[in-house]
Amino acid sequence: MASTVEDVARRVGAVAGIPAVLAFDSVDSTNDALRRHVDAGPVAAGTVLLADEQTAGRGRHGREWHSARGLGLYLSWLVLPGGPVELLPRWTLLAAVAACVACRDAAGPAVEVKWPNDVVAGGRKLGGVLADLRTSGGASELILGIGLNVGHREHDIPPELRSRATSLALVRGDIMDRAGIAARLVTELLALGERLQRGDWDGVRASWTELASSAPSGRVRVLDRRSARGAWTGTVLGLDARGALRVRREPDGRELAVHDGESVVPI
Ligand code: BTN
Repeated sequence: MASTVEDVARRVGAVAGIPAVLAFDSVDSTNDALRRHVDAGPVAAGTVLLADEQTAGRGRHGREWHSARGLGLYLSWLVLPGGPVELLPRWTLLAAVAACVACRDAAGPAVEVKWPNDVVAGGRKLGGVLADLRTSGGASELILGIGLNVGHREHDIPPELRSRATSLALVRGDIMDRAGIAARLVTELLALGERLQRGDWDGVRASWTELASSAPSGRVRVLDRRSARGAWTGTVLGLDARGALRVRREPDGRELAVHDGESVVPI
């Protein structure tokens, strides 16, 4: 039998080290709901808020995140990271690693991370991470929202997304245990978060690189929408200290940081 949101909350709440779990039948967006809780405060760092359904789920770049009731995992995690704002993309990559590990556990090694923070299988999207950051007086408050397609059958995915999206149930051809996947996800979030707080970015980066086996590598064409650099060609060197993709540009050999939102296509 498919797990209810109460089952999911119970399993997540049993994860060692989790300070609190807030569970809802329906919210607009778990990121927005968690932000409201923080504003009504106090909410402990590491708190998780999850919902069975989102009526206004948000994806990256202002897109909508389709969030049908009972089928996906819609979960937000509060992080109070400390340290410089420039390093915060590390946390978003970390969340993608945790999501990928949880999905691999459920559906096997076909699941990968796609740069920067998508979770995919067979080239189709299974999940993603949306980071909402607020800074005040030098302190950062980061809400990491993770969405995973778990129990969707083909007809549960909106027709316009069917060629690009999939679910764990479709990858495995089986019913998936949302509660178990959520517990694994949160266990990984806490473990990786602790590593990052200890300063082990190299370890987190190595995990990302291992899971992102189809990440752009070798020669790529970059379409830089955020700066005046336009379209250019180069060779990928890997993730840099800030979590950006470092690419050596041709022909001048300059190493440039490529950020989320820029298109990177292998050539
Ligand atoms: C993406 O576009 O890849 C990111 C999708 C993130 C969706 C999740 S679902 C839980 C959280 N709440 C939201 O409104 N969005 C994120």
